[in-house]
Amino acid sequence: MTRSKALNKASDIVPNKTRNKISAPKILIIYKSSTGFTKRYAELLAKRLGCALADFKNIRPAFLSGYDIIIFGTRAHAGSIDGLKKLRTILKAYNRRRPVPCASVRDTSGMAHPLCAIFVTGAVPAAEKDTIEHLWQNNLTEKELSRLPHFYLPAGLCYERMCFTDRMMMKGLAFMLKRKRGKTVRDIGLEKQISCSFDISSEEYLEPLISLFSQLK
Ligand SMILES: Cc1cc2nc3c(=O)[nH]c(=O)nc-3n(C[C@H](O)[C@H](O)[C@H](O)COP(=O)(O)O)c2cc1C
Repeated sequence: MTRSKALNKASDIVPNKTRNKISAPKILIIYKSSTGFTKRYAELLAKRLGCALADFKNIRPAFLSGYDIIIFGTRAHAGSIDGLKKLRTILKAYNRRRPVPCASVRDTSGMAHPLCAIFVTGAVPAAEKDTIEHLWQNNLTEKELSRLPHFYLPAGLCYERMCFTDRMMMKGLAFMLKRKRGKTVRDIGLEKQISCSFDISSEEYLEPLISLFSQLK
């Protein structure tokens, strides 16, 4: 599990002072999954946290109003975070609708913000910390990097379930690597790795997410 410097302790998550009676925050996990890795992680997480789960396809801002914390799970896709733009739009509308957030993240000035977290699955192993850090730096804004808890979960590749476009993209990458001159050790490793389906996912990668959110209950 890798994550860059952001909120990582339950003490970073504070109940909003404007609420007198604090009940356990209601958590919703939204997942966007194409070949099943993210869905599987989302289901495991929902089971461990005992919270609600929804497919990204069915999400509308109104649907979110009953929840205090939103966890978004998606995949890394050609260096991007799949669905992030749409998620930002949904959350913006959601934040406008919410009268009082029950659990929130405190920023450096002590101000409280509605809580949301993101996890991203990918084919990159956990040991490739620089690549994972690049994923965050290239996709999240400065604000998100410091305020949004973000987690990378190693998953794998599943050619059997991949859509045509994705298969073509992988074929293109494989072709490029095959033709490349002066391959680095990493290129050779990547070429071998993407030649067939593999699964490096493990429930243990969910532990940092579980410890962050289970303490709120
Ligand atoms: C076209 C394509 C591009 C991908 N790009 C990346 C990437 O940039 N980084 C990464 O770690 N994994 C990448 N992957 C692997 C997926 O992120 C990984 O298989 C993910 O777990 C799929 O999630 P899903 O099964 O929920 O759809 C890519 C896969 C495909 C098919």
